[in-house]
Amino acid sequence: MSDALTLIPLDNVDPALVEALLDRAFEPGRHQRTAYKVREGMDWLPGLSFAAIDGQEHLVGTIQCWPVALTDGAGRAHPMIMVGPVAVLPEHQGAGIGKALMSASLSALDPRAPLPQVMIGDPEYYGRFWGFTNAFTGGWDLPGPFERHRLLVRCDEPAVLPKQGVLGPWKG
Ligand SMILES: CC(C)(COP(=O)(O)OP(=O)(O)OC[C@H]1O[C@@H](n2cnc3c(N)ncnc32)[C@H](O)[C@@H]1OP(=O)(O)O)[C@@H](O)C(=O)NCCC(=O)NCCS
Repeated sequence: MSDALTLIPLDNVDPALVEALLDRAFEPGRHQRTAYKVREGMDWLPGLSFAAIDGQEHLVGTIQCWPVALTDGAGRAHPMIMVGPVAVLPEHQGAGIGKALMSASLSALDPRAPLPQVMIGDPEYYGRFWGFTNAFTGGWDLPGPFERHRLLVRCDEPAVLPKQGVLGPWKG
């Protein structure tokens, strides 16, 4: 990790700064991404979302997690945590900040009842460090276009995961 990096709860940061960082880390039109539709209308979870601040107190990275659910063929909703976006400013990438943010969110999950975690991302990166896999998501659908191999899940007990379903906001 880079020197003097501090992780703080994301709700301590001005939302306008978070949006500006996401604009720099992602391509224009990020709001059209399917991930945004999966969690449409939801607020990110304050206990699982973090900001990375450098030694000069600049915001250099963020992670947000969201309440979502996989609705199976019988109409039953299986609550899950959607992880991401994980974003690090281009000039700070490759210094371990993304890893630190991911670890902060994943370690903040309640160990007594960890919900499965889903994300859309590179299986090489998220598989290698945290055990996310596309092995159980082959029958899952999303409310928009996506690359199937990038739909990932992480779960202590994969046997509980529905084989089929559609991911969307957790309506409660
Ligand atoms: C993806 C991202 C969050 C990673 O953060 P980062 O701070 O650059 O990554 P880290 O420094 O913590 O991780 C470094 C390691 O991961 C590897 N890595 C980083 N991105 C990777 C990717 N997309 N695929 C495979 N490996 C990757 C690096 O090679 C490095 O490996 P090493 O430790 O063996 O050298 C960051 O690059 C980013 O913000 N990208 C743009 C936004 C984005 O695409 N976000 C992810 C989708 S939600």
